[in-house]
Amino acid sequence: MSAAESSYDRVALRETSPRLRRHGDRLLVMSNRAPVKIVRENEHERVEPTVGGVGSTFLRLLERHGGLWIAWSGIKDDARRIDKPGSDARFSMVFPRLTERDISFYYHGMCNRGLWPLMHFMPLNCRFETAHWDTYRRVNRVFARAAEAEADSYDIIWVQDFHLALVPRHLREYNPKVPIGLFWHVPWPPEQVFRIFPWRSELLTGMLGSNLIGFHTPSYAKHFLDGCERILKLKVNRETNEVYHDSRSTKVGSFPLGIAADLFSEIASTAESRARARRIRRSLRTPIVVLGVDRLDYTKGIVERLYGFERFLELYPEYRRRITLVLIAVPSRTRVTEYSALKKQVDELVGRVVGRFSSDGWVPIRYLYTQFQMRELIAYYQSADIALITPLRDGMNMVAKEYVASHPVADSGILILSEFAGAAEELSSALLVNPYNIDEIADRLHRAVEMSMEERRARFAEMSERVHRNDLEAWSRHFLDVLNNQCAIEPDAQIVAQ
Ligand code: G6P
Repeated sequence: MSAAESSYDRVALRETSPRLRRHGDRLLVMSNRAPVKIVRENEHERVEPTVGGVGSTFLRLLERHGGLWIAWSGIKDDARRIDKPGSDARFSMVFPRLTERDISFYYHGMCNRGLWPLMHFMPLNCRFETAHWDTYRRVNRVFARAAEAEADSYDIIWVQDFHLALVPRHLREYNPKVPIGLFWHVPWPPEQVFRIFPWRSELLTGMLGSNLIGFHTPSYAKHFLDGCERILKLKVNRETNEVYHDSRSTKVGSFPLGIAADLFSEIASTAESRARARRIRRSLRTPIVVLGVDRLDYTKGIVERLYGFERFLELYPEYRRRITLVLIAVPSRTRVTEYSALKKQVDELVGRVVGRFSSDGWVPIRYLYTQFQMRELIAYYQSADIALITPLRDGMNMVAKEYVASHPVADSGILILSEFAGAAEELSSALLVNPYNIDEIADRLHRAVEMSMEERRARFAEMSERVHRNDLEAWSRHFLDVLNNQCAIEPDAQIVAQ
């Protein structure tokens, strides 16, 4: 990195030349993860893309529209600014400095061991530590200060996810007028579950600094409103989904996140991608290919999926040697105990099923513990007849949508999807499954392998239409329109010289 790129620490780089500004003409995105992370090994640094989630989602938006992104660089004690050329507009990334203790207590501690299981309705996995919460507060202030140094009243600030819940309140104190949206990428639990969180009121109050809070589904939005009403005792209008507080109101809504569907379809339709998919199929040597892709996370139902596949092989021996499960598990949060324990469990289970059923050169599971680049992943999506996606709870699950977008309609794939993924509310033509029910997973696999081409096509066409219609662009436009309305921004009426 050049000196200019790392100058964020010393000066707040702001545009100084006078020019016309209008309300809402620059987007400032804030998230824990950027689309890239810095990896430092020995004396060397390299820049790597981040794994799925918010990072890759917003990269497409900012590449297209320009703006500013404030996020963690991925390493300790690193503050810098990077300017990226986008496809249509330039955007910049600002990395505030996080110490080793911040990363350990805020990210690994409060975010991954506290809020993550809480939001996924898994209280038994929650570890709550006051020191972690104190550091979470501190880091949220650090992020808010970085935004304060950059933003002006003409910006729109869009805060992402559970890592930065207190940022909206800090920003609101600094600037009562700036439009603030918050999108929550994970589920929101029922009020009875959320109640166990020791700092429940402070978390809710922090979020309510926003003008608009978005969730993936109406039920998550409802759970949040229940919390505001019953824990904070605030007035909630259930018609308009508004919470009244501090002589203002915050609107709450459901905005099911979309993907850059055209991009997936475009890459999938290239000769290179099709050839790659054919190579994958040839190497598997079975007529039926089933695919599961996730970060290796206990919310993803990977263990249940393996049990379900094993049950299928037990119940339907005629399919042995004719089917392969490709299990792609992306390494994630490996420093957290629950994740390393899950890795061990999955390794053992895969070994057991492979040892039990392999015969005549057939291996029932191909297990890949790695992160693939987008193009490789798309070839895997294309090569699979069936995607088996079984999270125990998931905000949305983008893999389900990516799988659908990567198949041409003529080559209709079958999606078996957990009813507990947010995507199930949109993709109702998938074969829905309760992942806690192993027999049901086996049954859905059986239905999938026996399904007529006519039914496959009808189901797939519906899902494909949906994924393309509510894509990333439509999703962000919808969210920002509602935010603008909520703040009564009239862009054209308010052009102002700065
Ligand atoms: C989920 C979260 C994202 C997060 C991603 C990857 O999708 O909603 O905010 O970035 O997981 O997890 P990580 O801990 O590696 O950022």
